[in-house]
Amino acid sequence: MSDLVLLESQGAVATLTINRPDKLNALDREVLAALRGRVEQLAANEAVRCVILTGAGEKAFVAGADIAEMKDLSVDDARAFSREGHAALAALEACAVPVIAAVQGFALGGGCELALACDFIHASTKARFGQPEVKLGVIPGFGGTQRLARRVGIGRARELVYSGAMIGAEEALRIGLVNAVHAPEELQAKVRALAETIAQMGPYAVSKAKDVLRDGEGRVLSDANALEVEGFAACFGTDDQSEGMAAFLEKRPASFRGA
Ligand code: COA
Repeated sequence: MSDLVLLESQGAVATLTINRPDKLNALDREVLAALRGRVEQLAANEAVRCVILTGAGEKAFVAGADIAEMKDLSVDDARAFSREGHAALAALEACAVPVIAAVQGFALGGGCELALACDFIHASTKARFGQPEVKLGVIPGFGGTQRLARRVGIGRARELVYSGAMIGAEEALRIGLVNAVHAPEELQAKVRALAETIAQMGPYAVSKAKDVLRDGEGRVLSDANALEVEGFAACFGTDDQSEGMAAFLEKRPASFRGA
């Protein structure tokens, strides 16, 4: 498996690291393919209950899709490249377990889009976010026009996409792009602690909650609530539900098996 995306597992928490620091972890086709490979590897590992996604080096989470690779694309090539990016990010988004983006530096263009394909984002005070594609004469191609609007609202997404502006971590927190901001030296430990907490919850329930939250987004409320009803009911067919509720009543920690 390619070293362009590293996968390390420690207990129930896995960390994916985009590993191309000399190019600020820019996403070229090889990195996108490596990411898909790692996501498949994660899907086959039932011991993993939560994933952290980060970038190698201090400077950048991911500084965007690879501009050198994009420079001479034809219209058809660009369509194919955008589809490759979308497919990789959709695979990540479809992970059965939560994925937390730990953004320590630049998350620009495809980097911001990659973070948005995660369940949520924690950032260091040094993180910088933006969709600067219009500065290059193009628009976001890996979901930035859509996932960004869903995360921060259409008005803020329009402003970021039309201006190409870069915003700091505090502004990203204020607009709801990130959930929390940490001191740079604390980011990885804080995200790991949260991932470990999530990993201890009922695994079937966490995955079901992820499905319902994701699949309900964009549906009318009555349809989305119907998904919740079915998801809630399905939990009652699992050992995790029997164990979780019995453990509460018996005043002992639950021992979940994920089914
Ligand atoms: N694609 C390809 N290469 C990239 C890249 C990208 N998106 N972002 C950075 N790099 C490369 C640079 O070309 C440089 O390579 P080199 O050392 O071989 O010349 C290396 O990464 C370091 O980047 P550099 O620009 O020298 O660092 P910096 O600290 O001066 O600036 C940024 C950092 C993030 C502000 C700047 O790299 C940048 O603006 N990157 C592009 C951001 C962008 O437009 N992303 C959206 C793409 S659609």
